[in-house]
Amino acid sequence: MAKARAKPQEKQKQTKKVENHGERKLTEAQIAVHWKEEEYFQPSAKFIGQANLIDPAMVEKFSEKHFPECFREYAELLHWDQYWHTTLDTSEPPFWKWFVGGKLNACYNCVDRHLEKHKNKAALIFVPEPELESATVITYQELYRRVNEVAAMLRDFAKLKTGDRVTIHMPMIPELPITMLACARLGVVHSVVFGGFSGEACGMRAADSGSRVLIYADGYFRNGKWVDHKGSADIAVQTAEKEGQHIDKVLVWRRHSGKYNSESPMIMKRDYFVDEILKDYRGHIVEPVSMDAEAPLFLMYTSGTTGKPKGCQHRTGGYLAYVTGTSQYYQDIHPSDVYWCMADIGWITGHSYIVYGPMALAATSVLYEGVPQFPDAGRPWRIAERLDVNIFHTSPTAIRMLRKAGGDEPKKYNYHFKHMTTVGEPIEPEVWKWYHQVVGKGEAVIVDTWWQTETGGFLCTTKPALDPMKPGSAGPAALGIYPVIWDENGNEVTAGSGNAGNICIRNPWPGIMQTIWGDPQRFVNQYYKKYNKHPHSKDWRDWPYYAADGAVLPADGYYRILGRVDDVINVAGHRLGTKELESACLTISEIAEAAVVPVVDEVKGRVPEVYVSLKPGIPPSKAVQDKIMSTIETMIGKIARPKKIHMVPDMPKTRSGKIMRRVLAAISNNLDTGDITTLANPDIVAQIRELVQGRGVGPLKDGPEDIKRFGEET
Ligand code: WT7
Repeated sequence: MAKARAKPQEKQKQTKKVENHGERKLTEAQIAVHWKEEEYFQPSAKFIGQANLIDPAMVEKFSEKHFPECFREYAELLHWDQYWHTTLDTSEPPFWKWFVGGKLNACYNCVDRHLEKHKNKAALIFVPEPELESATVITYQELYRRVNEVAAMLRDFAKLKTGDRVTIHMPMIPELPITMLACARLGVVHSVVFGGFSGEACGMRAADSGSRVLIYADGYFRNGKWVDHKGSADIAVQTAEKEGQHIDKVLVWRRHSGKYNSESPMIMKRDYFVDEILKDYRGHIVEPVSMDAEAPLFLMYTSGTTGKPKGCQHRTGGYLAYVTGTSQYYQDIHPSDVYWCMADIGWITGHSYIVYGPMALAATSVLYEGVPQFPDAGRPWRIAERLDVNIFHTSPTAIRMLRKAGGDEPKKYNYHFKHMTTVGEPIEPEVWKWYHQVVGKGEAVIVDTWWQTETGGFLCTTKPALDPMKPGSAGPAALGIYPVIWDENGNEVTAGSGNAGNICIRNPWPGIMQTIWGDPQRFVNQYYKKYNKHPHSKDWRDWPYYAADGAVLPADGYYRILGRVDDVINVAGHRLGTKELESACLTISEIAEAAVVPVVDEVKGRVPEVYVSLKPGIPPSKAVQDKIMSTIETMIGKIARPKKIHMVPDMPKTRSGKIMRRVLAAISNNLDTGDITTLANPDIVAQIRELVQGRGVGPLKDGPEDIKRFGEET
């Protein structure tokens, strides 16, 4: 796509033409999208002068003509113990194999190989949330030592072997990346569960992955408070056992070495303090295990259209090559930079763009424990000033929050970013401009990177020194990625048509997940079935990847991502499956039916609202409402707390009894519900609307695409 990288002036002319484009013929699935075309912003000469990706010929090098060999360029950034013989093996679509025959170790690539040149350079700078606690610097040399000791402990004490899975439920402390790298050293597949998920959610994931070892921390600081975390390990163990998975060891890191700070008792012969066990492994060195390029590196559970989160399985060689290449070219990381990604390592952004990509490039990476606006909205800028951070990476939600809490704060601090990223949700042009002007002081280049847990790394983004930026648009496809937008019938939605459709990637790339852990059929059905015309074809061209995002493409080739078109809600850049919340509600005995819908939120983008109908004879009550809230918190975690809970007399349903979530989403967002005459119970709609909104507020005609299309797929 985006063949013609037209000059910005030409682009503006083209898009003007599009805006004046007369009547549009819409197929059912195509929804016309109106939005104002934004002006382009140019990267500064200073940025261009030092950038990693300055050769325009790279675009041609990564064009379809050179696929898949173009990705050698990324793989060659790594150290291979043995070179691969086949760049891409397509013999078993859509289970692609990358760099087949190659052998490497991810930990060696992120740690050992930097010792020669960078051993005394900071690898990680840990910034504790309490501002009086000073930052800790871990050099590559120290990282090497610590990772080896932990690897020795995992192998010799926890008896973990290459290929075993281990579940890690830890906050943002340096011991988290250290543990991950130690796993990678042994070829042990880590599955990191975001710290904000509940013990039960962790236990379900541990059981699904077949982990018999859990790795925890006693607690951490968040928003000025100590969070006791170890208690959730006990619940995780019980949950896993209930699911038939025995946990034989829980390894507990202490936030303050030697001092245990949790109410939860240590269970004899099950729970162990890592700092105590490590004494036996002082100075141990573990040879990195040379892994097949196709060996799994980690699992990352993410929400989908069913109640059960799926374990996205990422491979060693292709994944590491892809995140290293994209960190080099799009994050513009040089070893001399100080890079700070504010995401949590418990999400894919943290895996790819805090740990594996940046560390493979010998970056200095800042790790911040707490929330950005603690104790005030100046905190991130003080950290940036003090540590001389020059690359900054965060989400629209964090940007909106910081803007709201202290729109002028950045001006008070003397830091200078050369590069900034926004990721995870669509960003409003107004917010983008604040990010650019105030946070970036008009100096920093911005990349708006669109991608997903499944995709390993960036799919759409501008090339920071080569492409102008356009607020609110992710930009053209990343190198070697060939997207297309199709409507529901598989007709291409062409650039400049002004219509929206489903964005797909026509080709495989090295960062794409291998499969869903333990459920290959779900992998095929979820991502490849929709637009596959020849299920027996061995040609990758017949297997486009379906991303489940709506998108629109103006004539300039800059993709604008509109949001999820499935049952997933993007809350503050984090994916929540509405089915997961609904299943949690249905475990409550009083509840007959449950439906969860997204609601627009000024700061978090989208938040969930819950609709329930109660069993006959049960009146709505505060008690039931509280039960719903606490059940969601226990089964999923605090991040899934609904904004509101509505107890309704009945759900709007089709004649076949399907709950019309689209209608509920319209009501929650005060939008027009459209035609409801085909419902089995159309009268309920007005009743629910009154219950939710009261009388007198007329619904709005238009709203965001993801809300309008919500529930369409089911
Ligand atoms: C969903 C994936 C990207 C890694 C972190 C989130 C949305 C992601 C953008 C962007 C608009 C975006 C999509 C996608 N999304 N980046 N730059 N602009 N929307 O990974 O939790 O798997 O979520 O986040 O809807 O499908 P994830």
